[in-house]
Amino acid sequence: MRAFLFGWVNDNCFVNFKFTNLNPLLTHRRYDTTATTLTLAVYSLALNPDVQEKLYDEIQSVLKKLESEPENEGKSTLEMISHEVLSRFEYLNAVVNETLRLYAPAQATERTASQDIVLQTSDGSVRIDLKKGDVIHIPIYSMHRDPIHFPDPETFNPEHFLGEPKYHKYSYLPFGQGPRKH
Ligand code: HEM
Repeated sequence: MRAFLFGWVNDNCFVNFKFTNLNPLLTHRRYDTTATTLTLAVYSLALNPDVQEKLYDEIQSVLKKLESEPENEGKSTLEMISHEVLSRFEYLNAVVNETLRLYAPAQATERTASQDIVLQTSDGSVRIDLKKGDVIHIPIYSMHRDPIHFPDPETFNPEHFLGEPKYHKYSYLPFGQGPRKH
């Protein structure tokens, strides 16, 4: 389970490497976000045995299918798991997304306006005049727990991420969004 979660989190950050012992990686400065996410995923699974059972069943069933595919003959479990293959673990993706929704390592981020600009809602009911240099605080924690986008937001429920998204794409930002420049 740990290897699966680790693979998911890092592949989605476009990092790919082989490992034999996770401990040095998880204690390295760059990996505290990954380590925290894994810890909280396992914690959430422990508190929600029904979710854990469903995840276990999915992993067993996808692995069985992979083992039966000719291109995987003779391969170990880890050798079979590529970035493309990870997307076949739909419930695993939902579990990690739900962990990052409730426990996003970055609870807020900021952007600085590079020019004067007016932001407003399509119906014009909210309007914000920004001046060049203004800093905008984006409250990731609050957005992830907004019941408009995530019904029953305090409950760990991977179903939030199954099927058609019911949330606005910019209301879920565990990795931030858009171009960055330091
Ligand atoms: C669960 C795992 C991770 C989470 C939740 C996470 C989250 C974030 C967030 C929220 C930001 C700031 C984005 C913004 O303000 O728009 C960020 C930036 C960044 N992350 Fe991660 N991160 C994770 C793992 C990693 C890993 C494993 C690496 C590299 C090995 C990494 C490298 C970076 C870098 C280089 C930036 C700065 C990008 C820039 O400013 O252009 N992250 N990450």
